[in-house]
Amino acid sequence: FQAPYPPWDFTDRNSFAFETVLRRWPVILTGIIDNIYCRNHDLGVSLPSKSEEEKATVEVIIEEGKKIISKIGEVKYDMARDRVLQPIPEDGEALTDVYNKELEKLAKKKQNTWLTVPWLYSECYLYRLIRSFFVQTKHWKDYDPFLAQKEATFQKSSKAIYQLATTMHELEGDKHTLASDPDNLKVIFKEMIQMCLWGNATDLSMLTHLSHDDIQHLQTVGRDAQAARAEYILKDDQEKVWQHLTSLTGKEDSRVDFVLDNAGFELFTDFVFADFLVTYTPYVSKVVFHPKLIPWFVSDVTPPDFKSATKSLLSPTFFPQEDTPEGAPASGASEESRQHLYEMVKRWESYIESGVFSLSVPIDSPLGSSDAQANFWTSPYPYWNMKELAPELHKSLEDSSLVIFKGDLNFRKLTGDVQWPASTPFETAIGPIAGSFPILSLRTNKADVIVGVDQEVADKLDKSGEKWRYNGKYAVVLFQPRAT
Ligand code: F6P
Ligand code: MG
Repeated sequence: FQAPYPPWDFTDRNSFAFETVLRRWPVILTGIIDNIYCRNHDLGVSLPSKSEEEKATVEVIIEEGKKIISKIGEVKYDMARDRVLQPIPEDGEALTDVYNKELEKLAKKKQNTWLTVPWLYSECYLYRLIRSFFVQTKHWKDYDPFLAQKEATFQKSSKAIYQLATTMHELEGDKHTLASDPDNLKVIFKEMIQMCLWGNATDLSMLTHLSHDDIQHLQTVGRDAQAARAEYILKDDQEKVWQHLTSLTGKEDSRVDFVLDNAGFELFTDFVFADFLVTYTPYVSKVVFHPKLIPWFVSDVTPPDFKSATKSLLSPTFFPQEDTPEGAPASGASEESRQHLYEMVKRWESYIESGVFSLSVPIDSPLGSSDAQANFWTSPYPYWNMKELAPELHKSLEDSSLVIFKGDLNFRKLTGDVQWPASTPFETAIGPIAGSFPILSLRTNKADVIVGVDQEVADKLDKSGEKWRYNGKYAVVLFQPRAT
């Protein structure tokens, strides 16, 4: 599929793309360097207490860590000087050829330097390249350089988490009235879908310019906060999604797929939404979650993140009881809300156990494992060619009753990250994947590409000077049904 517009790249100095290559990526790369440096430092401090044999191993780990640091330093250097992107080394993991072949094509078009390459390709390439630095070592293969950051931010989300657990507990009491009153259920459905949407507002690759106060603010849940934010949903297909769900009445085995985005608070909101769909509505019997198999765009969910999420939520010490020096506020949760969270997460665990909730790959998959279907999510490809490029995945999603694409990057890939006019219909922008299966995109705007918005609204926002395409304040809820 060839879109009639070029992809977003770094030529427009006012674009978020340019801001990304100029400022955000260097900050993210420096964060990885700091993370490795800290681990190396701790290992160094521990050396005197080690046996000779252990010392030898630890010294190798430290050496390998230093090599990764220097390779990341080189990438930063090349980026700042608009140098050529180097091929991904043959590291034995998936997609090396895919990235390198694409890079060769770009070289022929003279688009293979850090400022001439399309944004979507180069950003995916960057995370795959970083992964290769870890894979080529003996001791850092399983290391996720973003893990500490993901966990720390998750720990700071306790307020909204307890609040949502209590909301879900209250639903329990209304379960029977809800079941017999679809209109009431619809009201709750809309709250749930919005909660899940705004859960995407806080991905960690944006942390380079958002403060923790901003984040807490974005995580404010509850009816009033949502009503206040409803006006920021620039295209809102919630009603259509509801109609679609109710049309599943009586269908056995209706399955919803979540193409996940970020770990931590967003994954929590995905679980809550999934729980609502299977526990409180009669329309959904099974949910499949799709993770990324390598550390990806800082905060995306990997299988280890998925596995540890419920464990963390059930741990009595995960959320701080008192303010921590790192800035995590005391959860301040009452005994009651702790109990609500416990009950809810125990239910999720039982769903995972019984297969009502499942991960698309084995839950114990280590970082870097390969899976014909899941590899597609960490390729640089837009989704419109899924049928040709990942036929098994496409086929599997055809069996789904609803595929929910979470977040900004999924939206960029659905629309090919090209410079569509803002009013392009979603159906047009997603190309040939439209109609394959029911698609729902829940996206807070964090990149230049936008579609599905009234041209007048877009023009007005453009004129206002507000960075509405990427400041994370605006969102879209876009639905495309299966072709009949
Ligand atoms: O950095 C590029 C980008 O796609 C941004 O547009 C966005 O901030 C981030 O990465 C990923 O966002 P999300 O986690 O919502 O996919
Ligand atoms: Mg993400």
